[in-house]
Amino acid sequence: MSSLDSIAREASRLLRESKYAVVFTGSGISAEAGIPTFRGKDGLWNKYRPEELATPAAFATNPLRVWKWYAWRIGLVLRAQPTIAHRAIAELEEMGIVKAVVTQNVDGLHQRAGSKNVIELHGSIMRARCTECGYKWQIERQQSDEELPLRCPKCNALARPDVVWFGEPLPSDALYAAYREFSKADLVVIVGTSGVVEPAGSMPLITLRNGGKLINVNLERNRYSGIATISYHGKSSEFFKKLMSLMR
Ligand code: APR
Repeated sequence: MSSLDSIAREASRLLRESKYAVVFTGSGISAEAGIPTFRGKDGLWNKYRPEELATPAAFATNPLRVWKWYAWRIGLVLRAQPTIAHRAIAELEEMGIVKAVVTQNVDGLHQRAGSKNVIELHGSIMRARCTECGYKWQIERQQSDEELPLRCPKCNALARPDVVWFGEPLPSDALYAAYREFSKADLVVIVGTSGVVEPAGSMPLITLRNGGKLINVNLERNRYSGIATISYHGKSSEFFKKLMSLMR
C-alpha cells in the first residue's frame, strides 16, 4: 500500500469518526486552478513586494498600480475553475461531515465548488468597497486599464478591493465566526497553507488545544507538519482524489 493509500485511509477514518470537522485553506488549494500562491516556489511574493501591493500605504501612494495588480488577479480568478479539492470539500459538507470552511483565500472557489458555509477571513477579490461611503459591490468581470482605479458607483469616490491587507484587522464577523468553528471542531483538515500569516495561521491550534486532531495537506512541510495527526506532503488534488474514492 502506497503512503498516499495509507494516509488517505487514516484520513477517511478520522473524518467518519469526527463529530464536527472544519476545513482550513490557503492559496495552495487554488494553485492547480492556475492561481499563484504567495510563498514557496513561484510564489507571488517572490516576484512582487507585498509592501508595494497589499498594504494601505501602497494603495494610498499608488492606487492605480494596486488596482492593476488586482485586476490581473481578478482575471486569473474568473478564468479559474474549482479544483478536485474544492469539489471534494463541498461534497464532504453535503455528506454532513464538513461543517464549515474557513479560508484565507479571496478567490471564491469554495463557493463556486458548492460549499455553503464558507468564512472568508481575508475578504474577497471579487468585491469592491468605497473608501468614502463604504458601499460594497460584486465585481463581475476584469476591468480594463481605462476603468482603473475603480470608483464608487454611488458617490464616485475612490474604491478599493474588499480584501484584508497587511497591517489591517480581519473583518470581525469572519474572525469571531472562525474562532467559533475551531472551538467546536474535533477535526481540522488544513489544505494548502504555509500557516505563517496571523491570526489565521494559529487558529487550528485552538482545536488541537481542545483535544481535537489535525489533518495537514500541503505540497511541502509547513508549521503543522510536526503537530498534525497525519500530514500528506503532496498535491491537494492527489490527496482528495484518493480520499473521496474511500469516502463514497
Ligand atoms: N497542493 C497543496 N499545497 C500546495 C499546492 C498544491 N497543489 N501548491 C502549493 N501548495 C502549498 C505551498 O507549499 C505553500 O506552503 O500551499 C502553501 C501556500 O502557502 P502561502 O503561499 O504562504 O499562502 P497562504 O498560506 O494562503 O498565505 C496566507 O498570506 O499573503 C497573505 O493574504 C495572503 O491569504 C494569504 C496569506
